[in-house]
Amino acid sequence: MHRRSGLSARTKLTISYAGFLLLAGVLLLAVMWVFVLRWLPTDDPRSLQRTFGGVVFIGPSRADLLRGFTPAAATALAFLLVFGLLGGWILAGRMLAPLTRIADAARMAGYGSLSHRIRMKGPDDEFRELADVFDAMLEQLDSHVAEQQRFAANASHELRTPLAITRTLLDVARDDPTRDQGELIERLHAVNTRAIDLTEALLLLSRSDGKSFTREPVDLSLIAEEAAETLLPLAEKRQTTLDVTGETTQTVGSAALLLRMMTNLVQNAIVHNLPAGGTVTIHTEPQHGASVLRVENTGHPLPSELVPALTEPFQRGTERVRTDEHAGVGLGLAIVHSIVRAHDGTLALAPRPTGGLLVTIRLPDQGLSRN
Ligand SMILES: Nc1ncnc2c1ncn2[C@@H]1O[C@H](COP(=O)(O)OP(=O)(O)O)[C@@H](O)[C@H]1O
Ligand SMILES: [Mg+2]
Repeated sequence: MHRRSGLSARTKLTISYAGFLLLAGVLLLAVMWVFVLRWLPTDDPRSLQRTFGGVVFIGPSRADLLRGFTPAAATALAFLLVFGLLGGWILAGRMLAPLTRIADAARMAGYGSLSHRIRMKGPDDEFRELADVFDAMLEQLDSHVAEQQRFAANASHELRTPLAITRTLLDVARDDPTRDQGELIERLHAVNTRAIDLTEALLLLSRSDGKSFTREPVDLSLIAEEAAETLLPLAEKRQTTLDVTGETTQTVGSAALLLRMMTNLVQNAIVHNLPAGGTVTIHTEPQHGASVLRVENTGHPLPSELVPALTEPFQRGTERVRTDEHAGVGLGLAIVHSIVRAHDGTLALAPRPTGGLLVTIRLPDQGLSRN
């Protein structure tokens, strides 16, 4: 980018500082002239003598004084100018020093070094505030980039696993052509399905992150009913009771994404439940201008320090055996979180004291979410 080269801020500040000082000096001299020197007599010898209320003043004439005064005034003004320029230059330098530090930090960030912080000390002024805001922004960027890198590494790892299994299966089949083909095809099919599920979950995650979907009024309770109906066979297979309670509550968003969110939550609540005899409750209600959804399930007690991390991609809690056909890819809650964020809502996870999880989601209701 090319810009016109101009005076530096330091030069401009110095010039204005010296200029103001000079102006103040000139004004002061003008005031002196108006209020003091004007009262002096002109050169007329008759007027050298003046009478104020009976008292007689005899003094120098105006010309005398001007003659003596002018060089002194000029010297004073010249001194003010030099003093203003010098003082201004030093003061402006000191004032602008924090800006240089902030600019340095911005330049380093521009080159990709996000670990640098300004950590400005000193009084709590505007520069300090700017530096603190800048540090906070760097912090945010830094952790975001780290998160993205972790995500990319995890995603590649997860995608490589089914490919590696596929290659092993194919190697085995090539080395031993007499083996049962049917079993091989079944296993290849299962591995392939999992890879497709994973890829689709990743695509969904990037789509919901982008906020690029059409918004329409959606009734959350209907979405809950639909998800419960779809997952009823799974619940029955696991001898889990599925309850849908509450009232209709409207929000605005993508019905498809919200259904996906609900399905992920209910599927988790069924799959990560007690082996048999567990319960799942889905509750919807309007509350203070928001639509509230609660999905609650019984299950094993969850360590509370583990719970906040469950929404991170590929986090799978303290899972025991994962040979389950419904074992997820670890993106379920990450997708839920991303869909909730895209709908300007909030997501809260809480372990239940008796075991299992309580998920609470708040979405803005119809009126509020238009922005
Ligand atoms: N309703 C739930 N009850 C208990 N644990 C849960 C529940 N939902 C999620 N979890 C835990 O959070 C982890 C991450 O969930 P998720 O992102 O859906 O991945 P996945 O289900 O594929 O393992 C799960 O592995 C499980 O340990
Ligand atoms: Mg899941």
